[in-house]
Amino acid sequence: MSDFLTMGYPWVKVLHVISVISWMAGLFYLPRLFVYHAEQAGSGNPTDTLFQTMERRLLQTIMTPAMIGSWIFGLMLVVTPGVVTWSEVWPWSKALAVLAMTWFHFWLAARRKDFAAGQNQLSGRRYRMMNEVPTALMIVIVASVIVRF
Ligand code: HEM
Repeated sequence: MSDFLTMGYPWVKVLHVISVISWMAGLFYLPRLFVYHAEQAGSGNPTDTLFQTMERRLLQTIMTPAMIGSWIFGLMLVVTPGVVTWSEVWPWSKALAVLAMTWFHFWLAARRKDFAAGQNQLSGRRYRMMNEVPTALMIVIVASVIVRF
């Protein structure tokens, strides 16, 4: 198994980075859809239905499969011999930020359900603020894995 992981390492990393880019695209875009949905579309009107379709498709056909791919290929890299040294700081700072990013994904999924039920409680301004969360976490993650402090 470890020979397979060592041989496949570059391609597993390719699949990891592709999954991560797709996941991040959705994590940046979905909160932006929520901003306009909260500000522009009263519950039940045609614009509300359009936003619901866009949000559901983005989450279910892009973001969730990309998150699963990021985790599967990321964990394959974690168990590849010689890739992660747990006595260093970067694997821990990256792991914490990735767990927070995963929480944020499920928070967005719950808000999507609120909109679908006509029960969104949050303002456009609040969604704009939450849109900064994935940016901050991405900076911690990418700095951790490339600078390796
Ligand atoms: C979902 C769980 C994740 C796990 C388990 C994970 C784990 C890993 C591991 C072990 C590596 C290999 C490091 C090496 O080759 O030495 C790696 C590479 C990388 N990860 Fe992740 N990662 C995850 C999520 C993310 C996220 C969310 C991002 C970006 C926002 C990210 C960005 C990267 C990048 C850019 C690389 C390539 C770094 C390089 O080649 O120097 N990862 N990841």
